Amino acid sequence: MSEYQMNEKHAGMALDRGVQGVLGQPISRIDGLAKVTGTATYGLEHRIDNLAYGVAITAPIGKGRVTAIDTEAARRMPGVIDIIAGEASIPRETPVFGQKSAHGYDGKVESYGEIVGVAIADCFEAARAAAMAVVVTCVAEPGRFDIRDGEADAESPPEGALLPDTVIGDIDKAMGEAEVTLDVTYTTPPQVHAAMEPHGTIASWEGDRLTIRAPVQIVGGAIPVIAATLGIVAENIRVLTPYIGGGFGGKTMSADIILAAVAAKRTGRTVKVPLSRQQIFHVTYGRSDTIQRVRLGADRAGKLSAVGQDSLVGQKAGASQFFEPVALGAVALYAGANRSFTTRTAQVNLTARGPVRAPGEAVGMIGMECAMDEMAAKLGLDPIAFRKANEPEVDPSTGSPFSSRRLIECYDEGARRFGWADRRKRREGDWLIGHGMATASRVNFLAKSAARVRLGADGRALIETDMTDLGTGTYTILAQVAGESLGLPIGSVDVHLGDSDFPTGAGSGGSFGAASSASSVALACEDVVVELARRMGADPADMTLKDGHAISGNRRVSLAELVGGSPIEGMGTIQPGSTGQAFSQSTHGAHFAEIGVNAVTGEIRVRRMLAVFDCGRVLNHKTARSQAIGGMIWGIGYALHEHAVVDTRTGAYVNRDLAEYHVPTNADVPQIEAYFVEEIDRHANPVGAKGLGEAGISGAAAVVANAIHDACGVRVRDFPITADKLL
Ligand code: MOS
Repeated sequence: MSEYQMNEKHAGMALDRGVQGVLGQPISRIDGLAKVTGTATYGLEHRIDNLAYGVAITAPIGKGRVTAIDTEAARRMPGVIDIIAGEASIPRETPVFGQKSAHGYDGKVESYGEIVGVAIADCFEAARAAAMAVVVTCVAEPGRFDIRDGEADAESPPEGALLPDTVIGDIDKAMGEAEVTLDVTYTTPPQVHAAMEPHGTIASWEGDRLTIRAPVQIVGGAIPVIAATLGIVAENIRVLTPYIGGGFGGKTMSADIILAAVAAKRTGRTVKVPLSRQQIFHVTYGRSDTIQRVRLGADRAGKLSAVGQDSLVGQKAGASQFFEPVALGAVALYAGANRSFTTRTAQVNLTARGPVRAPGEAVGMIGMECAMDEMAAKLGLDPIAFRKANEPEVDPSTGSPFSSRRLIECYDEGARRFGWADRRKRREGDWLIGHGMATASRVNFLAKSAARVRLGADGRALIETDMTDLGTGTYTILAQVAGESLGLPIGSVDVHLGDSDFPTGAGSGGSFGAASSASSVALACEDVVVELARRMGADPADMTLKDGHAISGNRRVSLAELVGGSPIEGMGTIQPGSTGQAFSQSTHGAHFAEIGVNAVTGEIRVRRMLAVFDCGRVLNHKTARSQAIGGMIWGIGYALHEHAVVDTRTGAYVNRDLAEYHVPTNADVPQIEAYFVEEIDRHANPVGAKGLGEAGISGAAAVVANAIHDACGVRVRDFPITADKLL
């Protein structure tokens, strides 16, 4: 019994038989050269003749009504083609993942900087000048610009939510009876994606057919939203997104796609609409701030009897049912009979809140893992020993078995590599040196994914799927999966991604992309292998594929010869099975950090970070490591830097650019190491990999906080931890 349907084919058989030896190898990105030489063309970079430019016009209030939009002066400016404003076709903001269509302009403003129109001109500068010359008159109303304003009428998760409330036993009673208790509140601030590549779209129409060039993480998910918003059929939409410069959840859909399509239709031109960095902060969705109450109750030996994480988060009124699932990482992490993991969502007039890198764990594991550190100290236990004492046999919230869980090995391997047992809290001049550890946990998903693999007469394989590569390495790992399955060096595999004309892949998101799309490619290869065996007159199980040849008994025939004049095509589809709850699936890991805190200034310096992850099969050790350390670096940012500061008079972000919204720079990132304990997770999917991308950030901010506490004795519960909070 497993979470996926076996597709009647022996899922993963081709991979298991593989002797090519390319899967898992630390191969550099096959798209890397194109990217570093600038020949990889990103969405906004296409050179198209006679292009027109659109710039969004926005409302300067956080809550209220638009009473007038004066476009007269702007229309008379040089180069201006048209100004579309105050019409229902204008999307007020980016639809959040799960929202069926964009909210059209209706005169209302529910968050700062909502879009009210678009200025279209022959060049970008003219469009921008025209957009700024449009006078948008508004009447502001009092809004809710802090989640606490909405606490009184906050709502519980809707039916069918990703993270339903889990309440088991009686946590209040257990806390009353426990020998040692901790009841603390952690808070995290609003955060944004701020991908290096900005959002932006080039849209063109040929009759009824619309072509969109834009960074889109999940093509199959975006097309129905574009269709519903524009009132056209999905079959008439083609999305091209072969290269994406970072997504982090923020590029599932965006308002510029609709603006560009509307502007192109109206003007009969191909129109490019880039969002400015400031607009990206305000009209694409971000992460809610969170207030997390963590409760732990244990006996003196450290056995937990009560474990809870109850949170308040925010969502823009009417935006979506998405809420930050704070407890997603902690709900299945530690044993304890009495449990409470709940979320309440306050309605606010802030930029819509949607999925941002590791929704839930990225911020939720701050509260839980810092609280575990506090509790270990109260109990006088080593933080690893305390965690090990509460390692569950089965998922403690559902009773389901784990598909795989090698967290104890992550602790042991990490402790050994880091030198945990020999750590020494000390002072070096003005620097107080401390150490910490924290657990990583990220839920593992499988998404429906299809891929086509064609083996041609030249013996080369071609993979086609609308799966995307955000910079994560998808091109490379899919080539490795096909190479391993078909016995081809990866130089003989071509990978075409990000075109909606191809079979609908999983897309990139929620760390499900690699395993889901790789599974569909492996299954498509299975088709090809079966046909190769038929042509060879061999049993597929007795045939070996290596270096472009099929070997059976004493015969060795090249794949090109077997293909001859009739290319072999395979189709693979994977989808979550009906037995979805059979196994509890997560990637786990253990983080370690050494930190210096300046005793005079409060300056915090991360000196080294190390983590070990259990993520099932590793498809490519180089791209996997990059994902892991990328997440860990983001954790430094969540611990020390990131905070989208809301002006509580207007609901605007004060620091709405990358100069003021601080993220780690090279100087902030120390020696950093990531390792894996590998296991093929047979229950997860045909390739046996679990999601890794978002596991790196889970617990990574907490380990920094725990080491800061060890260094200087100050426990900061309000993130980010800035120097002023230590002094
Ligand atoms: Mo994910 S929220 O698509 O990084």
